[in-house]
Amino acid sequence: KGIVNYFLTNEELKNIFLIGPDKDGAMLEGSKDFAKKFMNKYNIPTAKHKSFQKENIKEAYEFLENLRPPYVIKADGLAAGKGVVIVDDINEAKNELNEMLLKSKFSEAGKTVVIEEFLKGIELSVFVLTDGNSYKILPEAKDYKRIGEGDTGLNTGGMGAVSPVLFADEKFMKIIEQKIIKPTIDGLKNEKIKYKGFIFFGLINVEGNPYVIEYNCRMGDPEAEVVIPRIKSDLLELFSNVACETLNKVELVFEEKAAATVMLVSKGYPGSYEKNKIISCLEKVAGSIVFHAGTKSNENNILTNGGRVISVTSMDKDIKSALKKSYINAEVIDFEGKYYRKDIGREFF
Ligand code: AMP
Ligand code: GLY
Repeated sequence: KGIVNYFLTNEELKNIFLIGPDKDGAMLEGSKDFAKKFMNKYNIPTAKHKSFQKENIKEAYEFLENLRPPYVIKADGLAAGKGVVIVDDINEAKNELNEMLLKSKFSEAGKTVVIEEFLKGIELSVFVLTDGNSYKILPEAKDYKRIGEGDTGLNTGGMGAVSPVLFADEKFMKIIEQKIIKPTIDGLKNEKIKYKGFIFFGLINVEGNPYVIEYNCRMGDPEAEVVIPRIKSDLLELFSNVACETLNKVELVFEEKAAATVMLVSKGYPGSYEKNKIISCLEKVAGSIVFHAGTKSNENNILTNGGRVISVTSMDKDIKSALKKSYINAEVIDFEGKYYRKDIGREFF
């Protein structure tokens, strides 16, 4: 909604240091249609796609009929992480289109729908901090979105994350920089979009070729819980240099250790769940960082207050050792109905 523009045009607020995209820049996340048009214009690799509205739903059916399954259908706007549907059956796909375009399933957010080709590969997230001119590439991460082990069941906000991502070697990261990061930063400049802050590139590796699945104008959760601990440089200094547009003057130093995080969630999440369960044994945690997400406190206790409750991050020489620490502490922390995935990062060892 343009909070950055609001600050910058307010006499009393305009001198406060801000890190965030302006209203136009935020469209990279806020509108999938906008993001797709931007990627096309600047030759940034992404799945082939077309956008449709209610008026041309017949063309949308035809477009679907000419695609091979699975079918990927996305509400244009923000839909609390539920706006992407992937189905194998064409009738189900058409039904979903009807729901979004004719029955306003996601209200405004689903007025425009993007249909795109399905890409098969491994996902990873790459983060950039930019002051609008120069940029720094932060450590990459992989998150685990499904609720169930073996990547099964419903999508969640994220059940865990690891960093580094072992297949993202120097060569692959160079390709990402050349084909995706640089053209994005240059494209924003060319569009006269003032972008200061984080860009989250949701990528998919299709046989060595990276494609953009989505942009977010922020860090990810739980990606931040593994990326930020791997930054050795002073964050505040980095941020003030973003605000002052002097990011090219500072160095970004990474922690060589690996980081892993495991999310403890409430029973029932991502469906309905109960809150207000007492969380115990937090004081027994050793060797991990405990990030509170859906928690609150009353006079005596810390209580659950959300679906994703606590994320337990650890660092060590490799992902396996880091995970071992997180799993010990995930077991120690206790609340009624606690659930976590036991296979985070499993493919890396
Ligand atoms: P998004 O909200 O655009 O990130 O999509 C949510 C999830 O859907 C992604 O993290 C992917 O797992 C999956 N997805 C989205 N677009 C595609 C695509 N074109 N091909 C395959 N999977 C996709
Ligand atoms: N973990 C995905 C996100 O923050 O969007």
